[in-house]
Amino acid sequence: MNSMTINDLLAAMWRDYIRLNPQADRIARLFADRGEEVVNDHIALRTFNLPGIGIDVLAEPFVRGGYQPRGTYSFPNKKLVAKHFEAPGLPKVFVSELQVELFPPEVREMVTGLVAQMDPSLPERQDFCMVGRPWNLSYDVYTRLREASEYAAWVAAHGFRPNHFTVMVNALRTFQSLQQVNDFLEAQGFVLNDSGGKIKGSAAVLLEQSSVLANTIDVAFDDGIHPIPGCYYEFARRYPGPDGELYQGFVAASADRIFESTDRGQ
Ligand code: NI
Repeated sequence: MNSMTINDLLAAMWRDYIRLNPQADRIARLFADRGEEVVNDHIALRTFNLPGIGIDVLAEPFVRGGYQPRGTYSFPNKKLVAKHFEAPGLPKVFVSELQVELFPPEVREMVTGLVAQMDPSLPERQDFCMVGRPWNLSYDVYTRLREASEYAAWVAAHGFRPNHFTVMVNALRTFQSLQQVNDFLEAQGFVLNDSGGKIKGSAAVLLEQSSVLANTIDVAFDDGIHPIPGCYYEFARRYPGPDGELYQGFVAASADRIFESTDRGQ
């Protein structure tokens, strides 16, 4: 796998993502039908902060491919921290991790029990960020994790794979605002995440974001197949900062609500 270029990896991640999230493919095609060329603002990855699988491990192939760490973020309500990475001309990569030690012992044990099943050499793979779920999981454990943390349950069920891709609204020519994108999506029958309002952020914080709710998808558990929320598609419009350049960071208060796009599916 070490011969993969960063562009190969990004393309493989997109294929994995639209296989799990066909509504993103449908939306990208709707934009293409309008003559748009969709530019990806960022890709988001999720993990646990356990040894060998933390943010820096997921980010390593990107860093080796030329990405550099930029912002760091904290989401105390969700017990998450995150970093974002940038490389010229490529989508940003936003990697978050759950602070497992902040949960009660029974939750910690469920999570460490999953991770203990992993082949320890797996994180060395260049495509570790999209290997999927490398452990067995019962629907009962999933449900109990979900009561403690929607995020923990999502990682437990889907493993390592892109949680969302994000359309860069600035690069769309036939939409003048994020509101217009939202109106278009709703007219096409997509359901937007309205936690904290359909548009998170504002021009004042240099970033506006919205997202459709995750698709509900059938996932195989040890004890059968159950429908659960999968991935979602996000839309971001950036504004220039005092230096005249488009702001490239993230706004924690907005991302806090965007995380909830996988709390229920559509
Ligand atoms: Ni995002």
